[in-house]
Amino acid sequence: MTASADYGEKIPNNVDLHEDRRLQRALESWQPNFLSWWESMGPTLPTQDVYLRTAVDVGREGWAHFGHVAMRDYRWGIFLSERDPDRRIGFGAHKGEPAWQKVPGEYRADLRRLIVIQGDTEPASVEQQRNLGATAPSLYDLRNLFQVNVEEGRHLWAMVYLLHAHFGREGREEAEELLHRNSGSEESPRILGAFNEETPDWLSFFMFTYFTDRDGKYQLGTLKESGFDPLSRTCEFMLKEEAHHMMVGTTGIDRVVERTVQLMLEHDTDDIAPYGGIPLGVVQKYLNFHYSVSLDLFGGETSSNVANYYTAGLKGRWMEGRRKDDHRLTDDAVMVDALVDGTIGQTEVAALVGLNTDLRREYVADCQSGVNRWNRILADAGLPQRLKLPSVAFNRQVGAFAGIEATPDGEPLTAEEWAAQKGAWLPDDVDKAHVRSLMRPVHERGRIASWIAPPRNGINGRPFDYDYVHLA
Ligand SMILES: [Fe+2]
Ligand SMILES: [Fe+2]
Repeated sequence: MTASADYGEKIPNNVDLHEDRRLQRALESWQPNFLSWWESMGPTLPTQDVYLRTAVDVGREGWAHFGHVAMRDYRWGIFLSERDPDRRIGFGAHKGEPAWQKVPGEYRADLRRLIVIQGDTEPASVEQQRNLGATAPSLYDLRNLFQVNVEEGRHLWAMVYLLHAHFGREGREEAEELLHRNSGSEESPRILGAFNEETPDWLSFFMFTYFTDRDGKYQLGTLKESGFDPLSRTCEFMLKEEAHHMMVGTTGIDRVVERTVQLMLEHDTDDIAPYGGIPLGVVQKYLNFHYSVSLDLFGGETSSNVANYYTAGLKGRWMEGRRKDDHRLTDDAVMVDALVDGTIGQTEVAALVGLNTDLRREYVADCQSGVNRWNRILADAGLPQRLKLPSVAFNRQVGAFAGIEATPDGEPLTAEEWAAQKGAWLPDDVDKAHVRSLMRPVHERGRIASWIAPPRNGINGRPFDYDYVHLA
C-alpha cells in the first residue's frame, strides 16, 4: 500500500490499481463515460485553465497540489486514507471484531445501497451548479465553484471505485446508473429530493454549500465509522476535501451579510434592493429554504433501516469513538421530535431507532454556529436584526412533520394559512427575480460584484486579485 499517488497511470490512485488488471480495465472503461458526463453535464462556462487543488497524497501535510489546469485534464484520482492494520469495528453487534476488508455476504445489498445513495449526491451537485460560472461574482468565487465541482467529481470516483472493486457486476451496473440519473430529470431524477432542486444563483450556491454539503459531511462522518474498512478510509479522505466546500459556504454567506450590512448602514434602510444588495429578509428566506430541504436529507426521525445499519456495523454515529456509552445501544432510549396530538413535541423511542435524530441534532448544532457567526456581523455593526434557523417542523417533506405546515417558529398552520403566508418565509418570485437580476458576471481580476464583499483571504496564500481563472 503506497500513500502517494501514481500519476504515471491513467487513473491516479493509491490503491495499487496496477496490481488488479481486471479492476483497472473496468475502471478505465468507465473513465470515458465519466468524461463525457463531465463534458455534457458539468460546468458550462468555457475556460482555458483554473487554479485548482488536486489530491496527490493522503498524508497530513502536502496532500494536495495547486496549479493552473485545464478542467477536462483534471486528474480525478482514487484515494483511500492510510490503512490501520489493527482497526476494529467500533459499534454494533460486531463491535471489537477486526474491520472487514471484504464485503460480508449478508450485508452486501445494504452496503451497496449506502454507497449508491452517497455516490448519487456527488455528480448531482455538479449538475445543479453547472450554469453558475456564467454569473460568478469574481474570479476567486469562480475558482471555488470549479474546485467544488471537480472534487464532487472525484467523490463520484471514490464511490465508483468501491462499487467496481467490491460489488462485481451489480456494482458496475450501479456505476453506470450514477451517470445516467440526472438532477431534476423527469424520467430518472437523482435519488434525494434536495439534489433535484435548482441552484440557479450564487446566494443559493452559498446556501447549498453551507447547508446541503454539510449534510454530506455528516453522512460521510457516519460512513467513516463503517466496519467495512475500504468505505471508512474512502470517506475519511473525502472529509478532508469537504472542509473546503464548507469554507466556501460559510465565508460566502459571511460576505453576503457583510455587504448587506454595509449597504444598510450607508443608506440607513433595510430595503437595500435598489442599491444592488440582497436584503437581509431575502437572505433569511433562502436560509429557511435550504435548511429545511437539507433536514429532509436526514430521513425520518425514526428509522428501522438505520437501526439495522448500526447494529450490523455498516454506519455509525457522528464521532462514534468519542461517545461514552456501550456503542451497542440495545437498551437505550432517546427523545425524538414528533407530532403529539397535532402539536410539535417529542416522544421517546429506542435509541437505535432514533439514530437519524441523533445525527440531525449534531448537524443542527453545527448549522447554528454559522448563524451565530453571521449574527455577530450584524451585532458588530450595531444592527438589531438577527438571522435564525427555522423550526424543524417548517417546510418539511420528510419525517414527522411532512404532513403538517408550520411557521418558522414552529406554530402549526392550516393548509390555507400556509398557502397565504409562505411567501413571507420562503423566496417568492419577486425575491428570486431580484437575486437573479444581481447575478451579472464579474470576470475581471480583483473586481467583485455589488452584492457581496470580497474575501479576507485568497486561495493557497494567493491574493484576491490573483488570476485564478483564465477564461476561454
Ligand atoms: Fe462530495
Ligand atoms: Fe462537497
